[in-house]
Amino acid sequence: MTILITGAAGFIGANFVLDWLAQTQETVVNLDKLTYAGNLETLASVQGDARHIFVQGDIGDSALVARLLAQHRPRAVINFAAESHVDRSIHSPDDFIQTNIVGTFRLLEAVRGYWGNLPADDKAAFRLLHVSTDEVYGSLAAGDAAFTEQHRYEPNSPYSASKAASDHLVRAYHHTYGLPVLTTNCSNNYGPYHFPEKLIPLMIVNALAGKPLPVYGDGMQIRDWLYVKDHCSAIRRVLEAGQLGEVYNIGGWNEKPNIEIVHTVCALLDELRPKADGSSYRTQISYVKDRPGHDRRYAIDASKIERELGWKPFETFETGIRKTVQWYLANPEWVVNVQSGAYRDWVQTQYASTAEA
Ligand code: NAD
Ligand code: TYD
Repeated sequence: MTILITGAAGFIGANFVLDWLAQTQETVVNLDKLTYAGNLETLASVQGDARHIFVQGDIGDSALVARLLAQHRPRAVINFAAESHVDRSIHSPDDFIQTNIVGTFRLLEAVRGYWGNLPADDKAAFRLLHVSTDEVYGSLAAGDAAFTEQHRYEPNSPYSASKAASDHLVRAYHHTYGLPVLTTNCSNNYGPYHFPEKLIPLMIVNALAGKPLPVYGDGMQIRDWLYVKDHCSAIRRVLEAGQLGEVYNIGGWNEKPNIEIVHTVCALLDELRPKADGSSYRTQISYVKDRPGHDRRYAIDASKIERELGWKPFETFETGIRKTVQWYLANPEWVVNVQSGAYRDWVQTQYASTAEA
């Protein structure tokens, strides 16, 4: 048996592939465009494993996707491929529209063509799992109840709007054509192989490099953090037992203000890699201009997936963040290798424009 996974050279997709190959015998076809966020370095340990077939390409390339489906005959497709960074979506939304909306549409069309021609048993067993985000629900005020699957869509950034559009297309393909889809909306992930332009890896990498730790606005924005391997286990569970056409919110009941995350990272580094001069990494914190339209609070109500599918996260925030910091300390060469010229250009663009607090 085979599954086709898109975007699996990125942070979550690559973690998913590594876990999948460690736990099953099933072959993975990995279709990834290798944008700045895709790093084959992350998959070095499965290079040469016959169960991992990597194909560089775009989910929007209908002919390529149709050919891969016909050739490998997967029993499922999991769609991780996306432009995923809110700040980049503010600077240049085009790629988000192309990949997250048009790309998802073309992928759906290719999958619909393939699925429609499968023999009855294979057709009944087939699944398309679309990986999405809690950001489609918009921003919560302090005291509001956490997002359930019924929460109104109110996306506020070009990123979240493009993911919302993709969720709607996936829903429509189920409703209109009967395509056997599952959708997951997850909170912020963290863990190994996280590209160092997102909050947690950026703070670790900058701290170790002696650079400022840029905190947007007052640092009191709240995110709900989930260790990436727990997201992967939830996706495996939804793929295995989710009800067709259903949406599952995934989260770790771990709401934290950003500044608390930064303080935790600093405290772990102070313990595990103390600075030579005895000062705390906290002294590197620098408040910078806020992100335009910055969502104040996200929080996921994960009771549906817990109740219906029996899934629960394995890590607490304390165990997960310690593992994450330890992983970055143990893998400096991965960090160096992903910090290409394109990465350096981005850091220049983003932090030159946020410099004034
Ligand atoms: P990422 O940016 O690290 O990786 C995205 C991957 O998709 C990269 O390997 C990139 O090369 C690939 N890609 C981009 N455009 C493509 C295209 N047109 N065709 C094929 N491949 C393409 O993202 P991530 O953090 O791993 O997120 C994966 C998915 O999970 C996304 O759909 C994202 O919206 C969703 N999600 C992420 C988080 C999070 O905290 N990171 C939380 C919830 C949901
Ligand atoms: P991020 O990792 O970009 O994820 P998202 O915006 O999708 O939630 O950012 C997480 C939070 O951290 C968000 O509130 C923005 C904030 N942040 C900073 O304060 N400084 C930074 O340098 C970055 C990248 C993010």
